[in-house]
Amino acid sequence: MPIRVNLNGKIVPAEEARISVLDHGLIFGDSIYETLRTYRGRPFLFSRHFARLEHSADGVQLQLRWSKEDIRREVERTLASEPQGPHGEESRIRVMVTRGAGPLSLDTETTTDPSLIIIVVPLKEVPSETYERGVAVIVSSIRRSRLLADIKSGSLIRQVLAFSEVKSKQTFEAILLTEEGYLSDGITSNIYVVEGNRLMTPSPEAGIVAGITRGVVLDLARNMGLDVVEGLFPPGEMDHADEMFLTSTTREVVPIVSVDGKTVGSGRPGPVALALLKSYRASIAALLEEG
Ligand SMILES: Cc1ncc(COP(=O)(O)O)c(C=O)c1O
Repeated sequence: MPIRVNLNGKIVPAEEARISVLDHGLIFGDSIYETLRTYRGRPFLFSRHFARLEHSADGVQLQLRWSKEDIRREVERTLASEPQGPHGEESRIRVMVTRGAGPLSLDTETTTDPSLIIIVVPLKEVPSETYERGVAVIVSSIRRSRLLADIKSGSLIRQVLAFSEVKSKQTFEAILLTEEGYLSDGITSNIYVVEGNRLMTPSPEAGIVAGITRGVVLDLARNMGLDVVEGLFPPGEMDHADEMFLTSTTREVVPIVSVDGKTVGSGRPGPVALALLKSYRASIAALLEEG
C-alpha cells in the first residue's frame, strides 16, 4: 500500500504533497497531531482522538477550522483512496494541523490559514514473538518537561533524540523521567509497574500524554479487580516490580522484561500484562462501534 496524503481536503501522491516553507509548523514546530490506527480497515476510537486533538488545539491557541465530522470524513476518504491490502493490512494514520504560512514571526496572529494534513501509511504490526518474549527498554537521558506535556505538539526534538538512544542500545522503547526524576512515560507510550495486585502508572502530573490506550487499559484493569494507582513514582519502583508493560495505539499492550539491562520480575511477560493484552484485543470489536 503506498503512502496516502490528504492535504487540506485534496488527496495527492506523497511526492506531490507540498506545503509552504513559511508554514509555522515547519519553522517553529507550531503544529499539533494525533496518531490513530485502523482495525478491520476502520479508524479506531476516532472520537477520543478528536477530543485529544481539540485539547491540543486549545492548549496552543489554535483554532480548529474543521469539525469532528469534517476530519472523520477526510480520514475515511484518505483510507478509501487505496484498497486495503490483500492480507487486510491495517493503517497508521497521522492527523496534523499546522499553524499555516506567515512571516518569520512568533506571533500567532500573523498566520490565518492552518493546514490539515492526513498521512496514512501501512501499519507495522508488532510481531507476535515480541508480545511472547517481552521487550527491553532503557531509561533515556532526555527528561520530560511537565510544561505542555499533555499537548501533542509537532515539536518532537526530545523524542527524536530519545529515539536515537533507543536505536543505539537496540531496545524497544525508552522511559523518560520528569525533570524532578519521577517516572513519566515512554517516548510514544505509557508505562505501568505491577506489584502484587497493584497497578501503578504515572499520573498526568508526571507530564504524560494521556494515552487513549491507557484509558481503555485502566478501565479493563479496574474491571479485573486490580488496584489502579496513578501518581508520581520514583524509578526505584521498577526494582520491586513483579512485571512492567507499556501501551500505545500502534503497539497495544507490550510486556517489558528488562530496563537498562536489569531483569524485571521473572524476566518473562507477566500474567497481568498478558491478561490485559488479551482483554484489550477482546474489546476491540465493541470499541470500533464507539466511532
Ligand atoms: C508521549 C506519549 N505518551 C503516550 C502515548 C500513547 O498514547 P496512545 O495510547 O493514545 O497512542 C503517546 C502516543 O503517541 C505519546 O506520544
